[in-house]
Amino acid sequence: MEVMEAIRERRSIRRYERDPVPREHIEILLESARLAPSASNLQTWKFKVVTDESIRKQLRVAAFDQKFVERAPVVIVGCIDFEAFGDRTRRTMELISRGAVRPSLSMILRFARGSDKGLDSEERQIINGVVNLSIAMEHMVLVAVELGLGTCWVRAFQPEKVAEILQLPEHCPPLAMLTLGYPRERPEARPRKELNEIVL
Ligand SMILES: Cc1cc2nc3c(=O)[nH]c(=O)nc-3n(C[C@H](O)[C@H](O)[C@H](O)COP(=O)(O)O)c2cc1C
Repeated sequence: MEVMEAIRERRSIRRYERDPVPREHIEILLESARLAPSASNLQTWKFKVVTDESIRKQLRVAAFDQKFVERAPVVIVGCIDFEAFGDRTRRTMELISRGAVRPSLSMILRFARGSDKGLDSEERQIINGVVNLSIAMEHMVLVAVELGLGTCWVRAFQPEKVAEILQLPEHCPPLAMLTLGYPRERPEARPRKELNEIVL
């Protein structure tokens, strides 16, 4: 399958068949994440693959009761691995432990002004950590289409609760989850802005 075809075919899938996803397919997805680009090639990500039903149920609760989080046979939890940034991790961890990955408004505004010169190193780590992990996770989303699998990004959840349920190390806060399984729905494409609306 061409990449563009996978991009066109992809939908957020929230209804899944009960069939389990073969281990080999999960491994192909993880391989696609492993090969993703990252700032300075630091590969600042870790993934937890959840298939256990009782844990999926707990994740559903942590995700504000979004039922498909429990019903999907697999949930892949993407975590930013702050240890992979190296020496300056400790201060970043202090920042995060005060409220998971919750970049401050002023930090985002400085970033949005087009230069990250004003950013502290830990702020830069958080932004790069989010970007790196997002790329790796979207690789998995697109490869899943090729394998006949459906996914849905899930960001609406309580990170502290997910970290507790999965016993994640402190330096690996969860950023996003992907539900995964064989689709039991074929949603219409959601609307998108026109090309001329997104080009400056
Ligand atoms: C970062 C991110 C977070 C999302 N979080 C959720 C979520 O918590 N729950 C949900 O049902 N969908 C979630 N979605 C899916 C979006 O609602 C969906 O991508 C959007 O409506 C466009 O639909 P499509 O993916 O089918 O094209 C999320 C998507 C992204 C990219």
